[in-house]
Amino acid sequence: MEQTLAIVKPNLVKRKLLGRILTIIEEDGFDIKDARLKQLTQNEAEGFYAEHKQRPFFTSLVKFMTSGPVFLMVLETPSAVEKWRNLMGATDPAKAAPHTIRRLYGESIEANGVHGSDSQISAEREIRFFFGS
Ligand code: RTP
Ligand code: MG
Repeated sequence: MEQTLAIVKPNLVKRKLLGRILTIIEEDGFDIKDARLKQLTQNEAEGFYAEHKQRPFFTSLVKFMTSGPVFLMVLETPSAVEKWRNLMGATDPAKAAPHTIRRLYGESIEANGVHGSDSQISAEREIRFFFGS
């Protein structure tokens, strides 16, 4: 079994699409092991995306991620990291494959609707960051 951290970003929570995203997750066979709605502070958003600190989009990304509550989830299934990344689609919704969540609901490369850990090591760090050990 493997776990990954998934986040429904503020734009989709605001648009009341949480139920639809949860349906997709459940129909795809993931077990939701923990979940929580949370308004991120600037510090939390900066810490979570620390690897992107030097990128030109960092300030804007932190502003976006703190623009409203996010929905945090620990998802579990075999190959959870890869399986959730595939279900999300590419970072840029315009380049995401048909039927992926970002293609269906993403609005821009920044407001792409969902997050997923990019490796098992990131998943461990990110789950610990929000849910403890
Ligand atoms: P995520 O970490 O959110 O799951 O997304 P990702 O791996 O597909 O993309 P990553 O490169 O880690 O970027 C993190 C988030 O930063 C925003 N972004 N904006 N304006 C831009 O060019 C740009 N590029 C990335 C997106 O919200 C992306 O998900
Ligand atoms: Mg990433």
